[in-house]
Amino acid sequence: KQILKTDVFGKRYVYMDVTESTNLEARRLAQQGAEEGTVVVTEEQAAGRGRLSRGWYSPFGKGLWFSLILRPDFAPVEAPKCTLMAAVALTKAFHKMGLTDAGIKWPNDILVNGRKLVGILTEMSGSMEEISHIVMGIGVNVKTKQEELPEELKLIATSLAMEGIDIERTEAFRIILEALEHQYYDVLDSGFEETLNEWRQLSVTLGEEIEVRAPGNTYEGVATDIDEDGNLLVRIPDGTVKRVMAGDVSIRPR
Ligand code: ATP
Ligand code: BTN
Repeated sequence: KQILKTDVFGKRYVYMDVTESTNLEARRLAQQGAEEGTVVVTEEQAAGRGRLSRGWYSPFGKGLWFSLILRPDFAPVEAPKCTLMAAVALTKAFHKMGLTDAGIKWPNDILVNGRKLVGILTEMSGSMEEISHIVMGIGVNVKTKQEELPEELKLIATSLAMEGIDIERTEAFRIILEALEHQYYDVLDSGFEETLNEWRQLSVTLGEEIEVRAPGNTYEGVATDIDEDGNLLVRIPDGTVKRVMAGDVSIRPR
């Protein structure tokens, strides 16, 4: 706890040896009124969750598996901003650790040379009018070695250790939480514009030819920009621009 240098993020800090998913645990706490900045961290997740109903590989002691409770005064449509904000903060944190090749794949992955280092799963509760809370789940592969990865991740996942960054998890956590807190309050105080510009700089998606896979609807195009709500703009071959929301799509390089 004393290792953290943040004011609000991690002020309430829940540490667990093992849990199903820190997102589930954080949601439970949020429903009981846990304040903004509450962090749930675990050594291992028995049922780590990814986007699109996928799982998240979360072995004991090998990563930072944590969730953060936020209570921003945003409209629900603005919630995706939190994911973009987090991706920017994390990428900057990795640059600070010396990993300058880290970049953001829209909406929520941080990649190093095409391999996934981080996943972010943002879950919102509330009504159409008002957010009651956001649980932001972040998984960072820290110590995992190439030979330890399960077969299906061998070619697509990476870790700080695999990228030559030899850092203790506590130290990485301190740097990451600091970056997240800083970025979040910047957005609340000064608006999203600056973070959006940073996102554009750090993106590995913009300018790329991609395939968008939504349920029952797959198409190809060029990722041209993101809008002020964090939706991806994709120019399809007939010249029209589609706006892609993060919810249930996956994008791949063509
Ligand atoms: P997305 O739709 O989120 O952009 P994707 O379909 O393009 O993802 P990849 O970017 O190749 O898929 O991500 C690798 C897959 O491996 C994802 O399904 C990811 O959730 C999963 N995965 C599970 N655990 C891990 C882990 N610890 N590190 C990296 N990837 C993991
Ligand atoms: C993805 O890329 O699909 C998102 C992965 C998110 C993983 C983190 S690990 C901590 C938190 N708890 C979970 O069950 N998932 C998120």
